[in-house]
Amino acid sequence: MTGVAKMIDEISSIGRDLTRGGFSRAGYSTADRELRDWFTAHANQRGLDVERDRNGVLWASWNPAGAAGPAIVTGSHLDSVPGGGGYDGPLGVASALAAIDILREDGRRLQRPIAIAVFPEEEGSRFGVACLGSRLLSGAISPERALALTDDEGDSFADVARRDGLDPASMGPDAAGLARIAAFVELHVEQGRGLIDLGEPVAIASSILGHGRWRVTVDGQGNHAGTTLMADRRDPLVAAARMVVEIRDLARRTDGARATVGRLEPVPGGTNVIASQVRFWIDIRHPDDVVTASLVSQARDIIARAAQGEGCAADVREESLSPTVDFDLGLRDALRRSLPNAPELGTGAGHDAGVLASSAPTAMLFVRNPTGISHSPEELVEDADAEIGAVALATVLGELASAQSIEGTTHAQPMMAK
Ligand code: GLV
Ligand code: MN
Ligand code: MN
Repeated sequence: MTGVAKMIDEISSIGRDLTRGGFSRAGYSTADRELRDWFTAHANQRGLDVERDRNGVLWASWNPAGAAGPAIVTGSHLDSVPGGGGYDGPLGVASALAAIDILREDGRRLQRPIAIAVFPEEEGSRFGVACLGSRLLSGAISPERALALTDDEGDSFADVARRDGLDPASMGPDAAGLARIAAFVELHVEQGRGLIDLGEPVAIASSILGHGRWRVTVDGQGNHAGTTLMADRRDPLVAAARMVVEIRDLARRTDGARATVGRLEPVPGGTNVIASQVRFWIDIRHPDDVVTASLVSQARDIIARAAQGEGCAADVREESLSPTVDFDLGLRDALRRSLPNAPELGTGAGHDAGVLASSAPTAMLFVRNPTGISHSPEELVEDADAEIGAVALATVLGELASAQSIEGTTHAQPMMAK
């Protein structure tokens, strides 16, 4: 087993989900804490200083002799979706540690420090907003809004963060933290079949689809399944079922669109009970932000019509919205020079690198996933590809940390806080 595969194997017992399969490693859970401890131990073994910033991001810095100024930063996240795979996030963290090992062995003289960042609650599985740590750091979410988010138990992010040793009052945009980033390069398992089809192990990312999440609440009349005549019902689950199918149909007729309902909760949820309320979440993605806005508006119309048709009431709330990101052209050129054989691929998945793209030059590398499946226990990376990915990352980091200046070109404005 190679270095990266061994590290992934070390954490394979943490956060296993015996009911759903795969891993359920929610942000700020016990599993998340154990994973952070695992990372800190690895970083310390390598003599890296680890600090946790006020937004809960872990930073491990390697300052080789002679290196100075803002760092070339790599890293990813350790949390997962419910019942997720073992590579989405951890592959980037383990590869970052392995890349530092490779660069050290190489003995190359570096001008800049290299840092590993581990971002909390990337999946948004617990508090509903993806990339919560990088959004706080970059100002893409206001601390007031973030701290008021609640999990399924009704615990606020403020309380959970406080219990985890963070000071909620200190959270929010961190200009000094961002100024330490000369460039950010996140390595990630590919979440589709692009590299399988191309027969290549590693790609350079070109873009991330714009995407967002909307929470829908449908209210009807809870009642008895046996005594309520079919004509007398106001069943929010029937309304929600129509909404789910019609939103799927809307995405099917819109070129390039993706719309998903992956989470639906009937209340109270009894076999012989007509639900009184249904909550569900829609994930909508499209490369063109104008089309995304139009899809959302059409989905709102579908929801209003379907609710009315069943005598129900519906409410739609935006939980997060991220514009389409084209990764920094100058940095992509630099990566292409380091990895001339790597193809460029876009992705439909969101990442902290996408959030940070508005604050620093960012780029990503994808490593082949032989199943082409992600957010599922079937997600996979072959050991040999994981090693090729780590070497590619080390090559890129080594080149960037040796460069006199980082040729970032598309340095967008900071996102508007919501
Ligand atoms: C994160 O993986 C997302 O794309 O939702
Ligand atoms: Mn993910
Ligand atoms: Mn991820």
